[in-house]
Amino acid sequence: MKIPKRLQPLIEDGMIDEVVTQLMSGKEAQVYVVRCGEALRCAKVFKEAKQRSFKQAAQYQEGRRDRNSRRTRAMAKKTRYGQKEQEQAWLNAEVDALYRLAAAEVRVPQPFGFVDGVLLMEMIQDAEGYAAPRLDDVSLSAEQAIDYHAQVMRDVVRMLCAGLVHGDLSEFNVLVDAHGPVIIDLPQAVDAAGNNSAASMLERDVDNMRRYFGRFAPALLDTDYGKEIWALYAAGELQPDTPLTGCFTPDTRAVDVDQLLEVIEDAREAHAERMAALADEQQDEQ
Ligand SMILES: Nc1ncnc2c1ncn2[C@@H]1O[C@H](COP(=O)(O)OP(=O)(O)O)[C@@H](O)[C@H]1O
Ligand SMILES: [Mg+2]
Repeated sequence: MKIPKRLQPLIEDGMIDEVVTQLMSGKEAQVYVVRCGEALRCAKVFKEAKQRSFKQAAQYQEGRRDRNSRRTRAMAKKTRYGQKEQEQAWLNAEVDALYRLAAAEVRVPQPFGFVDGVLLMEMIQDAEGYAAPRLDDVSLSAEQAIDYHAQVMRDVVRMLCAGLVHGDLSEFNVLVDAHGPVIIDLPQAVDAAGNNSAASMLERDVDNMRRYFGRFAPALLDTDYGKEIWALYAAGELQPDTPLTGCFTPDTRAVDVDQLLEVIEDAREAHAERMAALADEQQDEQ
């Protein structure tokens, strides 16, 4: 195909050998299939800031750390230089997130760098070597839905352990290949510890997945992984392999009262026995 203007510099640098085709355009970017040597990759070209929509909202930016303090000051001043820097920081966020998440063993496309506003990454493929479908494009059996849902929940946990919340997780931003779901589209990823909206965004992300997979496996509609995951994270108890139940019960409705009374009775008996043994020992000593 004709080479899009924004990809021309990467062709000239030899980072891309050929532009094969354009994938369906999303909200914020154009994605092209490109050939780099033998490999097919995806080149994501971000739209100009003016054309972008919600993701750059302040709500997403809060708590993002920027080690470049000159840039941070410039961004705060909103000068033209500051705006340019803000744009750069925004674009870098997806690349940073991809490297961090790949290292945390979250299933994301492997990144191959970010040049002239273009993100080069592994192309997620279907069995025939075409770009993999999105969750929204596939139909699943109940077993598959439960399996994929569990895989996505595990990735959400790993992501949170790596300090990030996706912030726009939906059936449009998860691809499916032979091994299962792969999470994409991360420029808005939110800093879990520094952003006051992180908890509600995590819940929304998880809820989107619950509703999507619940279409194929209605049992999932009764789960509440979002609150459970956040509660564990907030308590400092979340590890990448922490077992999850899908239940969150801040009140005692779900407690089995008979079982609870048995536990209390057992504890009382054990205590009484210990006291009796202690009394015996003391008598022996006297
Ligand atoms: N690494 C990839 N492999 C295969 N297809 C991809 C890849 N990245 C993006 N796509 C395709 O391009 C579309 C748009 O990409 P996305 O990152 O979601 O950007 P947008 O912000 O435009 O939604 C996706 O819905 C998906 O179909
Ligand atoms: Mg998208």
